Amino acid sequence: MSSVINFPLRLTDDGSFTFFSDEFSETFHTSSGAELEAQKKFVEPCQLAEKAERPLKILDICYGLGYNSAAALKTIWAINPDCHVEIIALERDKTIPEQAIAHKLLDRWSPRIAELLQKFAQSHQIQTPRLTAQLLLGDARQTIKQVQESGFQADAIFLDPFSPPKCPQLWTVEFLSIVAQCLKRDGRLATYSCAASVRTALQLARLQVGASNSVGRRSPGTISSFSIRNLPALSQQEAEHLQTRAAIPYRDPSLQDSAELIKQRRKIEQLSSALEPTSHWKKRWSNPWV
Ligand SMILES: C[S@@+](CC[C@H](N)C(=O)[O-])C[C@H]1O[C@@H](n2cnc3c(N)ncnc32)[C@H](O)[C@@H]1O
Repeated sequence: MSSVINFPLRLTDDGSFTFFSDEFSETFHTSSGAELEAQKKFVEPCQLAEKAERPLKILDICYGLGYNSAAALKTIWAINPDCHVEIIALERDKTIPEQAIAHKLLDRWSPRIAELLQKFAQSHQIQTPRLTAQLLLGDARQTIKQVQESGFQADAIFLDPFSPPKCPQLWTVEFLSIVAQCLKRDGRLATYSCAASVRTALQLARLQVGASNSVGRRSPGTISSFSIRNLPALSQQEAEHLQTRAAIPYRDPSLQDSAELIKQRRKIEQLSSALEPTSHWKKRWSNPWV
């Protein structure tokens, strides 16, 4: 019999709650604000408000509590209440959206959105005149293949796994290459991470990268698309970071290696790399007089 993990609640600075994962030793959102993060790091960089005059498709990778999808629906329907939205959500643990509903965490959004996402958490699919949604349960490294094979082309992709050192499986060149195939030519992929390894993996997946806004005093996120046009440029410091050993990406050739093996593979590549050690870059940028 499989036992259900009860995720402890954590209050964040904008008054919204998130969960803490013992398995990954991380909260599901930044302590600066869970709802704020969904809006600023995912929805706004994907420019969903600007695109809401036409039907929109969203790929929500690591659905979790459902905040990114909730924030997207709020933004889109504020501009165009009749906009048809199609969401494909990938998540490993079906109890997480269920627990978010049980704690009434989606009640921060409108009753319409909260009710739809409650049904979604229970039935894993929704078919209404304005929302079509499907929750694909399992390891995203496997379920992403289904999305790619179906020909789904997203206007926006939310990439929201736990951090690269904790969940390297979902930040590899191989995984992100399949993810990129699910992005429309003019679509955008957003993530909260500004890790050099993640940005390089996105570039190797044929995407361009730019910096998205920081939430609170935290570091910026990353916004990605096939064209560099209209992407906010990386700072000089961020560009130089991509020339260091930190930029060596995670790799998972068979898409089934353990986190430990994926990290070890990268460590070995870093040790034999001719790239600048990241400590030199850090020193250069921590002392403005040098
Ligand atoms: C940082 S949380 C996502 C937060 C979420 N986007 C939200 O708005 O609440 C990461 C999520 O990834 C899920 N996850 C972890 N490993 C996964 C995997 N291999 N495949 C799919 N989902 C995974 C976890 O269950 C967790 O819900």
